[in-house]
Amino acid sequence: MAITALIVAAGKGERLGGGLPKQYRLLAGKPALRHAVEAFTEHPKIDSVRVVIGSGQEQMALDALKGLDVGELIIGGAERTDSVRAGLQAISEGVVLVHDAARPFCPPDVVDRLLDALGEADGAVPVLPVADTLAKGDNELRGTVSRAQMLRVQTPQAFHAEDLLFAFEEAGGAGATDESTVMFNAGLRVATVAGDQMLDKLTTASDWERAENMLAARMTSRTGMGFDVHAFEGSGPLIMGGIEIDHDRGLAGHSDADVVLHAITDALLGAAALGDIGQHFPPSDPRWRGASSDLFLSHAATLIRGRGGLIDHVDCTVICEAPKIGPHRTAMQRRIADILGVPHGAVSIKATTTERLGFTGRGEGIAAQAVATIRLEAR
Ligand code: CTP
Ligand code: MG
Repeated sequence: MAITALIVAAGKGERLGGGLPKQYRLLAGKPALRHAVEAFTEHPKIDSVRVVIGSGQEQMALDALKGLDVGELIIGGAERTDSVRAGLQAISEGVVLVHDAARPFCPPDVVDRLLDALGEADGAVPVLPVADTLAKGDNELRGTVSRAQMLRVQTPQAFHAEDLLFAFEEAGGAGATDESTVMFNAGLRVATVAGDQMLDKLTTASDWERAENMLAARMTSRTGMGFDVHAFEGSGPLIMGGIEIDHDRGLAGHSDADVVLHAITDALLGAAALGDIGQHFPPSDPRWRGASSDLFLSHAATLIRGRGGLIDHVDCTVICEAPKIGPHRTAMQRRIADILGVPHGAVSIKATTTERLGFTGRGEGIAAQAVATIRLEAR
């Protein structure tokens, strides 16, 4: 019998706020919806995945799901139950696992437990015990409720599609916050299996923060180094650290010759094992002639974030006799931090001379060395 995962993602995410509906917001560089869908496309027992989205969310959904096999997108309704019903119309037979996009991290063993339990019952749902005291009340306590038999019911919820359709006909969906309620109200048997904290729904801003922290804790710290040299050529000003510095000599290079941004870009690419600046922006390519190096740096940052990474810190040493870097240090740090989208304190610029030794000592050019610390999900 075909097993289909039906992901409902047609909500507005009003309680989380922030403009973009939560299912399209990024968690570790990936939209929450994509996390939710991948848990099922990657599960060996799931035959197909369908996604219910809100009308007007088509482009966001296509972007979020690029490359994943989810068939045609289904347009949902005003309430969650309307969205589920719209999805069921498109599925109508076999086993269906109804799941909230707002629960992006479904562990595969929960799906296994649900499918096993479905052999013995009309439906199966993951549950967790209630740990907190349960009470009635508003601004005052109106009495506690025994939590002994209380369960928190999560999704995915597994049913035979015909049974769920029948239950909707029989009991209607109004007021139900999930399908197990509809099934139960229609007199059908719903088994419980062990749920998982990873399945807790992301409803409020603090839920979101918890999910981000959980993802960050799974990452490993990585360090990369970068080095670059440019020779002096012609008259100034020179571009360094993303700013223009008044100096009587400029630097030679294919792009704007920003030795500091080039070293930092290479350090970031190195930390992520993504090659080097020359690979991404070949000097032979006329597109980069005179290009502002902001572009190279922000590209490296985008690549890292696209892999779910975080940029923790960059540190750069500029090696030259002149110009003096001190007066420009703060402006460079700020500019680089802004390009990278990190706090100003996450960027350090230092400078040294080589005591008039070597090419930098003779004033033939400027060298820069950088290190970058990033975090990436351990693979
Ligand atoms: N959902 C849906 N159709 C609706 C409402 C909700 O498909 N009309 C989906 C949401 O996208 C989410 C899941 O149902 O994946 C659980 O709903 P909820 O957490 O309430 O999400 P939102 O409705 O988006 O959030 P809020 O209630 O805060 O606006
Ligand atoms: Mg809602």
